[in-house]
Amino acid sequence: VKFTVEDRDGSKQELEAPTDMGLSLMETLKAFEYNIMATCGGMALCATCHVKFQKGQDQLSEKTDAEWDMLDTLPDADDTSRLACQIRLDDHLEGAEFKICGDLE
Ligand code: FES
Repeated sequence: VKFTVEDRDGSKQELEAPTDMGLSLMETLKAFEYNIMATCGGMALCATCHVKFQKGQDQLSEKTDAEWDMLDTLPDADDTSRLACQIRLDDHLEGAEFKICGDLE
């Protein structure tokens, strides 16, 4: 699947990643060496994997209650916000574009 990532400094890159490894979007971004703390290890508890979608958000799976609850605590979250650890890397991400927003501490 191919999608576009904007880093915190505004640089954009199109990534192509295999969907058959059972990874989350958070794990995939880390594999591509994006700087994401993921302090909670993908349990929707730390929000350091916060991303905001510019494109393709409506193709994704619904947020779980845990994801809603965590996003509710973020002052900078909006309608386009998701937790990358709660998104499975699959074909729903094709053509999507998002920006990395999670804190680095
Ligand atoms: Fe902690 Fe996603 S890695 S909320």
